[in-house]
Amino acid sequence: MSWLKRPVKGLLLDISGVLRDGDHVIPGSLEAVQRLQASGIPFRLVTNETQVTVEKTVEKLTKLGFTGICPSSIFAPAPAVAAHLRENSLRGYLLVHPNVLPQFEGVETTEPNCVVVGDAAEHFNYERLNQAFRVLLSLRDKEEPMRLFSLGKGRYYKEEDGLCLDLGPFTAALEYATGAQAQIFGKPNATFFQAALKDLSLSPEEVVMIGDDIVGDVGGAQGAGLRGVLVRTGKFRASDENHDTVKPDAIVDNLSQAVELIMNQNL
Ligand SMILES: *[C@@H]1O[C@H](CO)[C@@H](O)[C@H](O)[C@H]1NC(C)=O
Ligand SMILES: *[C@@H]1O[C@H](CO)[C@@H](O)[C@H](O)[C@H]1NC(C)=O
Ligand SMILES: *[C@@H]1O[C@H](CO)[C@@H](O)[C@H](O)[C@H]1NC(C)=O
Ligand SMILES: [Mg+2]
Repeated sequence: MSWLKRPVKGLLLDISGVLRDGDHVIPGSLEAVQRLQASGIPFRLVTNETQVTVEKTVEKLTKLGFTGICPSSIFAPAPAVAAHLRENSLRGYLLVHPNVLPQFEGVETTEPNCVVVGDAAEHFNYERLNQAFRVLLSLRDKEEPMRLFSLGKGRYYKEEDGLCLDLGPFTAALEYATGAQAQIFGKPNATFFQAALKDLSLSPEEVVMIGDDIVGDVGGAQGAGLRGVLVRTGKFRASDENHDTVKPDAIVDNLSQAVELIMNQNL
């Protein structure tokens, strides 16, 4: 198989749709992760989760049986944007879910000179959106860049009770009102994948990304020079196999199969 011609020295795994679906483990994924851990092939988890901290994500995974995963091995948009704010001494208006606020520890929030949009869910309201809008306009008035950072560009997602607006539409509303263009932290931005590669100390050609999102996971990873493998679990749809723009390096039935193939190749 051509995607296995080059050795696989490390992996990036999506969480939702690859390891778990909501509160359920995807069959075979626990064992697959254990196999990876035993093999010594390093891996990192890359997620677009923006409602909770990475510590909480670890806690949830541990409850499902995924042990031996530490917060520093999870790459999520909130810590990435928080680091960006700290490094550049930016003061943020944080239009994010309260549960993810601990991730912004040490970030100044008084007299904000940038806006951060996460999936605030029921905490999006007129007043907060309008406040974000005013921060951006005040920057324009000061002839500063209108710094609008978004933790993704999802349109909607599915919860137990039905479909829900994701953060994308709210980011788009602020873009529309102000003319600002949001910078996206998270998948499919190549910078996001590069941070995980750097942590692995591997180059893009050495690493494979496995995900259920044809655009965010597979297309994003390929854009950063990695091989992108699509799994037929999670939100996968048959039509993804003939996507207009993204051609996965491989399509596998599940994580377990991908790990099996990689192990056989790396023998
Ligand atoms: C994963 O996919 C492989 C290949 O199709 C299949 O044999 C296996 O049963 C699947 N694993 C689970 C747990 O469904
Ligand atoms: C983020 O994750 C959710 C849940 O898996 C998904 O529905 C959504 O499309 C994702 N967004 C992006 C930009 O990957
Ligand atoms: C990608 O992320 C970087 C920072 O991590 C940001 O500066 C850049 O603007 C983002 N690119 C896009 C297209 O949003
Ligand atoms: Mg996913």
